[in-house]
Amino acid sequence: AKDVYLDWKLTWVNASPDGFERPVIGINGQWPCPQIDVDVGDQLIVDVYNGLGNESTAIHWHGMRQHGTGVMDGAVGVTQCPIAPGSHMQYHFDVNQAGAYWYHSHNMGQYPDGLRGALIVHDPNPPFHYDDELTLTLSDWYHQEMPGLLDAASVAPHGQEPLPDSALINDSTNTKIKVLPNKTYLVHIICIGNWPGHFWVIDGHEMTVVAVDGVYTEPHPAGDKFLRVATGQRMSVLITTKPDASQNFAIWDTMDVNMMFIFENRTIPQNYNPNATAWLVYDEAKPLPEPPVFHHIDFGTDFVDDVNLVPADHAPLLQPVDRQIILDTSGGLVDGVPRFTVNGKTYISPKVPSLYTANTVGPEFSSNPEVYGQVNPFVVKHNEVVEIVINNHHNNLHPWHLHGHHFQVLQRTPVDGGFYKGLTSNVSTTPIRRDTIMVQNNGHTVIRFRADNPGVWMLHCHVEWHVEVGLMATIIEAPETFHHTLRAPPKSHYDTCAAFPQPVSG
Ligand code: C2O
Repeated sequence: AKDVYLDWKLTWVNASPDGFERPVIGINGQWPCPQIDVDVGDQLIVDVYNGLGNESTAIHWHGMRQHGTGVMDGAVGVTQCPIAPGSHMQYHFDVNQAGAYWYHSHNMGQYPDGLRGALIVHDPNPPFHYDDELTLTLSDWYHQEMPGLLDAASVAPHGQEPLPDSALINDSTNTKIKVLPNKTYLVHIICIGNWPGHFWVIDGHEMTVVAVDGVYTEPHPAGDKFLRVATGQRMSVLITTKPDASQNFAIWDTMDVNMMFIFENRTIPQNYNPNATAWLVYDEAKPLPEPPVFHHIDFGTDFVDDVNLVPADHAPLLQPVDRQIILDTSGGLVDGVPRFTVNGKTYISPKVPSLYTANTVGPEFSSNPEVYGQVNPFVVKHNEVVEIVINNHHNNLHPWHLHGHHFQVLQRTPVDGGFYKGLTSNVSTTPIRRDTIMVQNNGHTVIRFRADNPGVWMLHCHVEWHVEVGLMATIIEAPETFHHTLRAPPKSHYDTCAAFPQPVSG
C-alpha cells in the first residue's frame, strides 16, 4: 500500500476531439483528463484547485464505496458544498476495491464539458490471467457547452433533450490502440457519457465478460452479442489477440438511438451518425479497416443481461428484507415547470448539504426525513437489508446509480415489462452486484444492499439532463451512528456553503 498524491488545477482549455474545437475542462492544462492508476490498498490523495473562473465544481469518485469517508464522495448538495472558483479541496480516501471506476464533476451538470476520466484500481492477485490492461471510454459529445444545453434540456420530460454531435472512444474519433499478438488483454469499458447507452463490439475477437462495475463475474462469453454499457456503468472483458500481426481490427461503438429518438417520438435527422470507430492496431504499416456494418440491432435483446451474470464470489442473496422502498419515477410538470419526479416529488438541491444537516441537527433529529428538505430522503438503519424497487413510468430508459454501495440486482424487466408486483420465482440465489443499473422504459428493477456503510448517499438517474431536473433521491444511512462512524466534514466547508450557494437549474 502506498500514497498516490495528485495535484490538480482545473482550467478551461480548447480541444477538438471530433474535429470541432470548443472549450473543455482540463486538468493541469491537459485534456482528455488523465487516467488515475492505483493498486488495491493504496490511499488516493487529490488536491483539486478550481481555476475555472466562472463555475464552481467538485469531483465524485464513481463506484468508490467510501467506507467511513462519505465526506469525500464529492456529491454537491449531499456530501459537500461546491468548490468555488479560486479555492481548493483535498480529497483523500483508501481504495480497497479492484476494478474499473471513473471520476467526474458532480456539480451543475458539468462533467459532459470534459471533466471526467478513468480510475483503474489494479489487482495484485486477479482471479484470472492477463498480460496487460487497456481502457476504452465511451461517450456522447456535444459542440455546445452544458450551461446552454441544460436550458434547452430543462424541457426534458417532454423528450427534447439536445442530440449529441458525435460519439467518442477515449475522447476522440480517431483512437488507435496498439496491441501485441498472442496476448491476453483485460479491457475496461467505461461509459463516461451524459445520456445514451453504448453498444460495442471488438471485431474479430471473442469477448469474455469478467467484471461489471468493478465486481468480478464468473467468466461469461459474449458470443455473437453486442455488449452494452449505460452511462456510469463499466464492463471488463478479456480478449486474446491474434497469433500474428497480419491485420488490424476495428472497434465499433454505437449510441443507443432508441433512447434519443424512438421513445421521444422525434424523427432521426438525415445522415445522423450515432457511431464511433477505434482500432486495435497490430501493425501501423497495415490499413485500418472499416468497421463491420450492422443493419439491425435489436436493442432489447442483443446484449448480455445483468441478471444472467453471476458474481465470482457467489455471495448469497441478501434476505430477509428489513426495509422495502418503492420509487415510482416519472416526468411531468411540477408547478408548471417540466421536472422528473420520485413518488411525485422532484429533488431540489439544498443549500446545506444533507450530510451537514445530519451532523448539525444531531442524533435525535437526524433520523427524521423532515429535516432534510426536498431531497426525497429515505432513512435506513444500520445493517438493515434494504430492497429498492424502481418503477420507471417514463417512456425512456434511465440508468440509476447508487453511491456508497454495490447492490444486488434481483430483477430487471425488458422494455414495457410492467411495474413491480412482487418477485418472480427465478430470482438468482447469487445475484450479480453493481452500482449502476439501466431501468427500461415502462419497466422496473429490484435491487438489494445491506446498510453497512453509514453515510448520505445519492440515488439518481445518471443522465445529466435528468439529474438537473430532479430525478434523484437520497439514502440517509444509519445517521444515528455518524458521530462515531464518519470522518466529520471540515469546518471550513460550512463557510464555503454560506458564501457559495448551489445554483438550481431547470
Ligand atoms: Cu457517477 Cu452520482 O455519480
